[in-house]
Amino acid sequence: QLFCYFFIYLKHIISDSVLGLIVHGPSGPLVAPLGSSVVLPCYVDELLLMEDLEVEWRRTDSDTLVHLYQDGESRPETRQQDYHDRAHFFTDQIQHGNFSLRLDNLRAQDKGVYRCKVHSQQDFGEIVVEIKDVDHLLVSGSSRSISVSVGEDITLNCSVDSHITPEHIEEISWKKTDEDKDILVLLYQNNQTLSDSSDERYRDRAEFFTAEIPKGNFSLRLKSVRTEDKGVYTCQVFAEGLSANATVVLERLGFSVSHIMVLILCISASGSALLLCWLIYCRSHNEVADVCSFIFC
Ligand SMILES: *[C@@H]1O[C@H](CO)[C@@H](O)[C@H](O)[C@H]1NC(C)=O
Ligand SMILES: *[C@@H]1O[C@H](CO)[C@@H](O)[C@H](O)[C@H]1NC(C)=O
Ligand SMILES: *[C@@H]1O[C@H](CO)[C@@H](O)[C@H](O)[C@H]1NC(C)=O
Ligand SMILES: *[C@@H]1O[C@H](CO)[C@@H](O)[C@H](O)[C@H]1NC(C)=O
Repeated sequence: QLFCYFFIYLKHIISDSVLGLIVHGPSGPLVAPLGSSVVLPCYVDELLLMEDLEVEWRRTDSDTLVHLYQDGESRPETRQQDYHDRAHFFTDQIQHGNFSLRLDNLRAQDKGVYRCKVHSQQDFGEIVVEIKDVDHLLVSGSSRSISVSVGEDITLNCSVDSHITPEHIEEISWKKTDEDKDILVLLYQNNQTLSDSSDERYRDRAEFFTAEIPKGNFSLRLKSVRTEDKGVYTCQVFAEGLSANATVVLERLGFSVSHIMVLILCISASGSALLLCWLIYCRSHNEVADVCSFIFC
């Protein structure tokens, strides 16, 4: 209560213009794709007098003026060069208390916090709008390298984490980076998997998870892995004039547990067989038994 009284008192002493106009903004930070248009909302519920109305859009970080509406008109000359053609103020919406701003052709540098300040004859209020992210084409692979055994099947991760729908993806290529030249493992172009263009080492062994493609999951299924498959794999994505890639490292092509078991079994079996043979041979040739035991020892 004390705080309230203090606040009212403060409001009186500062001046009548600080009455606290309630300005609304978006419910949360905005995320939009690179090159798109985004509307930064800023509006009031009450009707304001158009006279002496001033709306200022400014970046809070660099203090750059993005747009200024003053004396009944937009003042383009005050705008920063960078926003000159890209910031659009809806002059016809002002009478409805809507001071939103549209930013066109969004750039990565547009990420940041914007302040919308509204001054009217009676009131003053402001709101901040954050553009949290300008989406690039983001492709993720696997951060850790994959160990696998010869003969097994593996999945190499590659997913497109952007607002780009699979129909807009022009091409996905999975390549193995060999010393100086790349080997094409699998190609996806114009909504189709072109298995025939794969290098013969990978033909019939590499495939996409068809059902996963609409989710932007272009992971590669590589069947019956061979020793020479070890290496670096790149998943390159082309979409809407952008390109991005991710890599997956396939390392340590070892033998699987079953391989090792069979190997141990083989060695021990042949060892026992050999021993048995020796014993039988020595029994039947008593005269060489001493030599036999000597060699055996
Ligand atoms: C303000 O105007 C813009 C552009 O016409 C529109 O997209 C937005 O929805 C409007 N906001 C409100 C709160 O009316
Ligand atoms: C592949 O992606 C799946 C799902 O995101 C994840 O669980 C798995 O750990 C990834 N594999 C590797 C090797 O990163
Ligand atoms: C992929 O298919 C969709 C519709 O299924 C179509 O709109 C789009 O143009 C196709 N993309 C290419 C590159 O052919
Ligand atoms: C992609 O799909 C495959 C097969 O269902 C799955 O194993 C893998 O984890 C998926 N990757 C991601 C990143 O979701």
